[in-house]
Amino acid sequence: MLDKILILDFGSQTTQLIARRVRDLGVYCEVVPYRSIPEDFSDIKGVILSGSPYSIHDPRSFRIDVQALIDRGLPILAICYGAQLITGELGGTVEQTGLHEYGRTHLSIGSEGAKDPLLRGLSEGTTVWMSHSDSITVLPEGFEVLATTENIPIAVFRSKAAPVWGVQFHPEAHHSEQGSRLLGNFIDICGLEHDWTPASFIDTTVAELREQLGEDKVILALSGGVDSSVCATLLHRAIGDRLYCIFVNHGLLRKGEFDEVMSLYKGLGLNVKGIDAVDYFYSQLDGVSDPEQKRKIIGKGFIDVFAAEAHKLKDVKWLAQGTIYPDVIESLSITGTTIKSHHNVGGLPEDLKFSLVEPLRKLFKDEVRKVGEELGMPHEMVYRQPFPGPGLAIRILGDITPEKVRILQEADHIFISRLREAGLYNEVWQAGAILLPVHSVGVMGDERTYDQVIALRAVTSVDAMSADWAHLPYDFLARVSSEIINTVDGVNRCVYDISSKPPSTIEWE
Ligand code: XMP
Repeated sequence: MLDKILILDFGSQTTQLIARRVRDLGVYCEVVPYRSIPEDFSDIKGVILSGSPYSIHDPRSFRIDVQALIDRGLPILAICYGAQLITGELGGTVEQTGLHEYGRTHLSIGSEGAKDPLLRGLSEGTTVWMSHSDSITVLPEGFEVLATTENIPIAVFRSKAAPVWGVQFHPEAHHSEQGSRLLGNFIDICGLEHDWTPASFIDTTVAELREQLGEDKVILALSGGVDSSVCATLLHRAIGDRLYCIFVNHGLLRKGEFDEVMSLYKGLGLNVKGIDAVDYFYSQLDGVSDPEQKRKIIGKGFIDVFAAEAHKLKDVKWLAQGTIYPDVIESLSITGTTIKSHHNVGGLPEDLKFSLVEPLRKLFKDEVRKVGEELGMPHEMVYRQPFPGPGLAIRILGDITPEKVRILQEADHIFISRLREAGLYNEVWQAGAILLPVHSVGVMGDERTYDQVIALRAVTSVDAMSADWAHLPYDFLARVSSEIINTVDGVNRCVYDISSKPPSTIEWE
């Protein structure tokens, strides 16, 4: 079993960041809601308690049996609310000073604190990031102060009898300049090696998948995106051609994308069946212009095509999905109940009962990419920009016709190709062209034209939850605009979208 650190989530916005930092240090960790402390601790070597949006004095605050956790004898690092919770539960004092301390401050460690294994190697006066209103003023019996700041008398403390530490600041925050060192020290205290790497993840996961799946067959729907592609490649390494992949062409992919991606998949040795369902999707979408209806038609179309293929394969027991860790964490509310379910499983017909296999469900997006690279997948596949499932359907405003798809594919192809050539493709989170449902007047040669408008959209983002419009160079935009207008039949005007999300969204529909 893989040794790990358990992170108990009390609802802080930075809980995922704690996990990211620990993983970056080469140690496996898992986040669980505070209520879901596992029964079996055999593979847990240390516990981190996160921050919380609540004060411990708030009746809504989240509580655990702190003493029972300490009695397990494992090292515990309690951050912010976690530190206050331990203090409060064990008889210390947490005061509602009402003074918010938010932002950078400096840690006074002193010579005694510097000897402590948690603070080993941290510089006197190192910058740390705070975000709290209550302060710990009296420690419980048997605890001692290790560091202070100019505003608070107890910034770091430990138990004299047990391996328990509390820190008022957030070592996971970028602004805590030696936060990773402190987390690294905690990992050393837990006796963990820094040996969790993409290669070790692949070895362990392949072994687990072989054990779990035995001789069974698995089906997987590929989207061309990073997650499903890495998921397929990993499963293929484990079970070879007993993994049956399906890649559906709904006719709303980018220009040439279906063939390109199919050949990349074949190059990876995947057992993949490409399904041409273009006419089917176009006929279903004929005359439909409402964005939500388009999405529903495409979602249902995928399920119908997938179910038909799955029926042909008869004895397939498993459905693989490229679910990743942020989806998993977000689908667990802090109370431990599921608030979001996987739509593509939920939509399958009754007679297709699959068990789910999700080998990437513990990985963050950039870890998925690293695993993809380690598996030898092509760079262009691993670093492909996100692309929505309904594809160009939600970038053609209004109803969809094959002619509109052609115009948009041509314009989009120019934009994306020039981004790649200019070295800008990986500088933006996502880019694409949108076909607007308006005509505008133009002049080409001596002729008056009355043609369509293309909008270009490129955004920067870290997670698509918020995004800014990409500040692409004017001369680059000018070149793309003139190439589109001059070479794409039916377009005589090009505009650049300078809206951020929120209040706009990345896609126009
Ligand atoms: P929005 O437009 O909500 O998009 O800012 C955020 C991210 O989600 C993608 N997106 C979708 N992906 N099916 C998908 O698979 C959809 O219906 C869908 N709508 C938006 C979008 O491309 C962006 O990355």
